[in-house]
Amino acid sequence: MTYIRIKGGKRICGEVTLQGSKNAVLPMIAASILIRGVTVIENCPDITDVREMLMQLQQTGARYTFYDHVLVIDCSEVFLYDGEKKEASKTRGSVLFLGAFLGRFSEARISYPGGCVIGSRPIDLHCELLRSLGVTISEQEDALYACGRPAGAELFLRSPSVGATENAILAAVCAKGRTVLHGAATEPEVSELCSFLVEAGAKISGIGTNILAIDGVESLHEVCHLLTGDRIVAGTFLCAAMVTGGQITIHGTKGVSLTGFDRTLRRVGLYCEQKENCILATGIGKLFPVDLLVTAPYPGFPTDMQSLLMAVLALADGESRLCETVFESRFKIVPELNLMGAAIEVRDRMAVIHGVPVLTGATVMAKELRGGAALLLAGLAAMGETRVYGCENIARGYEAICERLCSLGAEIDQMEEA
Ligand code: EPZ
Repeated sequence: MTYIRIKGGKRICGEVTLQGSKNAVLPMIAASILIRGVTVIENCPDITDVREMLMQLQQTGARYTFYDHVLVIDCSEVFLYDGEKKEASKTRGSVLFLGAFLGRFSEARISYPGGCVIGSRPIDLHCELLRSLGVTISEQEDALYACGRPAGAELFLRSPSVGATENAILAAVCAKGRTVLHGAATEPEVSELCSFLVEAGAKISGIGTNILAIDGVESLHEVCHLLTGDRIVAGTFLCAAMVTGGQITIHGTKGVSLTGFDRTLRRVGLYCEQKENCILATGIGKLFPVDLLVTAPYPGFPTDMQSLLMAVLALADGESRLCETVFESRFKIVPELNLMGAAIEVRDRMAVIHGVPVLTGATVMAKELRGGAALLLAGLAAMGETRVYGCENIARGYEAICERLCSLGAEIDQMEEA
């Protein structure tokens, strides 16, 4: 069995290059189905969520090459495919094939993506928007069948779901007529998907706002897109500098938005300067608690940064409270951090973190992606050795994380248990 071993207590210092954004590239992979030709995505991260999505895409007859972070997809010849249940549930991005298939074939069949550790992950909002576009959707036991060419309409999203917004966009870009989506999610990944589609010939206005106007076009053309860096991975490295009192430069950050969390990190204990294409960051060596922090859709504090901040606040000088409002079960990391000497209590949607002076290395389990990354942070700061099992969950969204942290001076490597 594989685990990550960390000998804590080292300040991380040096320079690191940021990977491309997982949550921006997954919808673009789905969107490539709309392009009857070649899609090129540069700076694509080599992570398992991307690899799994490409395996599903290949089942449609699409062909791709992926070398040195350049992904080339050819969807000239694709056909309808019903994703295998086991594959679909692994990668949340697979639900986005729904909108893309409808945009190309006016029909779609996907296996129900199912829930995961952080929540039940329903897709009722996706279905509501697609039905408003005139699509008929029947939900079978573990699969969804949709048919009908999307027709432009006024859509109202009652909760700013990122995935539902992206599915509606993918279904609407080649629909008959104009679609106006009110209440759209405004995460940077949604805006980048829109920019990618406009580069391919789509007509979208209001990008970056919660009202998107999409005028359907006959077809999209070939595109080459340079993917923006991953803002949550950038935040992860910033938290690593905070918990070790280190000093780092993160390259490849042009266009990366730290909105929603940079001010909090500065308040807790980070000096941070964002330049044109890099971020200079220094952990100030002392960590301050936050009285109350509530996660929220963009531009609020991102839910994906919640576990990472929790690992930092575990070492703050005082009591902090984190309220998770986006997902119903995103505190799975708490028992693992407490095994390392943290003092965290969970009361429904609230985590109360009593800062402690030190953490101690232990054997812990990464149960999901961001919680797993947070355990790496705790291991970097802890005294002694930490072993993190379940590291396949971390590889879903972090490319070569051990190598990158090692290059910054951390004592970390991936081990195979005999
Ligand atoms: C995207 O998930 C991201 N994943 C998540 O990142 C991120 O945490 C989330 O957006 C919020 O920012 C990808 O982009 C691949 P939502 P998504 O639809 O689209 C509820 C990571 O760590 N909801 O905005 O699935 C849902 O249950 C991952 O990189 C419905 O009730 O998130 C959740 O409570 C984790 N019905 C809330 O809305 C629906 O039809 C937000 O979900 C859809 C969602």
